[in-house]
Amino acid sequence: MVNQKLEFSIAPMMKWTDHHCRFFHRLITKNSFLYSEMISANALVYGPKDRLLFTNEFDDKTIIQIGGSNPDNMSKAAYIVQKHGYNEVNLNIGCPSNRVQAGNFGACLMEKPNIVVDCIKRIQDKCDIAITVKCRIGTEKMNDQGFFNFVDLISKTGIKKFIIHARKAILNGLNPKQNRDIPPLNYQLVSMLKNKNKGLKIILNGGIKSIQSGLKYTKNFNLDGFMIGREAYQNPFILSEVDSMIFNENVPLSRNEIAFKVAEYIDKNCSLYLNHDFKIIRHILGLYNGMPRSKIWRTKLVQRNDYKIKGDKVRFATEEIENFINKKIA
Ligand SMILES: Cc1cc2nc3c(=O)[nH]c(=O)nc-3n(C[C@H](O)[C@H](O)[C@H](O)COP(=O)(O)O)c2cc1C
Repeated sequence: MVNQKLEFSIAPMMKWTDHHCRFFHRLITKNSFLYSEMISANALVYGPKDRLLFTNEFDDKTIIQIGGSNPDNMSKAAYIVQKHGYNEVNLNIGCPSNRVQAGNFGACLMEKPNIVVDCIKRIQDKCDIAITVKCRIGTEKMNDQGFFNFVDLISKTGIKKFIIHARKAILNGLNPKQNRDIPPLNYQLVSMLKNKNKGLKIILNGGIKSIQSGLKYTKNFNLDGFMIGREAYQNPFILSEVDSMIFNENVPLSRNEIAFKVAEYIDKNCSLYLNHDFKIIRHILGLYNGMPRSKIWRTKLVQRNDYKIKGDKVRFATEEIENFINKKIA
């Protein structure tokens, strides 16, 4: 299936989709939108901006997600994101964690839409950057109509793109991990939202395990695209189907080619500023999932060692697994 208008993205994930991870994912797919982990507006305004944002060295399909509820800080943060060269800032209205609730942002803002509206308006006053929203289908206190009303109110500010994690956020009683699994998925409701708002771009998220199934849901529920989180991180080679299946482009790099490019990246970055290659390596551990000897490959990557050229650990382990796979095929 080829659909140039359909959008595919890799979800924002705290501690996972940092800039090293995005470098790795970009090697596998050129056409996907890559979301940063959430950065709090306060951290951007008062913290080390350059380290948090790493000037947009990759491309125009990398998006920074911010979280907060103070309109002044949110607009300052969005302005910083814009100044660093990004085209889109995404607002986190879906995180259910207690820490985030204590700061009065994330999913609890679905119950306080006027604060979101204020933040958006202040960002719009200061910036030209596109603003998008990632939210849930409500909280335990909201019914379906409450969810539709939320989107209605927010879209009146001019927001055109919503990414919907198709589960309610249970703000009292479930931790973030449970909140990603226990509340039931409701793709039908997301489809109803799209039917009511044909002019909005609605991207489906939650529980999608493959590019094929994402394409199927997008088509069956009449949506504009889909986002994958955990499966993309844990089994990243599924991403090699994105450019060919959705965008009819590119013969993707092989696992081997990807691993060697990561090795080069490790050489460069470890000599520049990282003292520990594991900050990069941890993101690629799922690359050979499903292949023979993938466990041995992973074990070699997590071992400590003192290669003079830091990327050699990845090169040697990869040569070994590839030799094994090729011998088996021959
Ligand atoms: C480790 C982890 C961290 C996450 N951090 C964020 C985050 O910073 N911002 C956000 O909007 N969602 C966050 N999420 C939620 C994902 O973006 C996504 O909505 C959720 O995992 C459902 O999609 P999936 O079933 O494809 O994983 C996180 C998920 C995981 C697993």
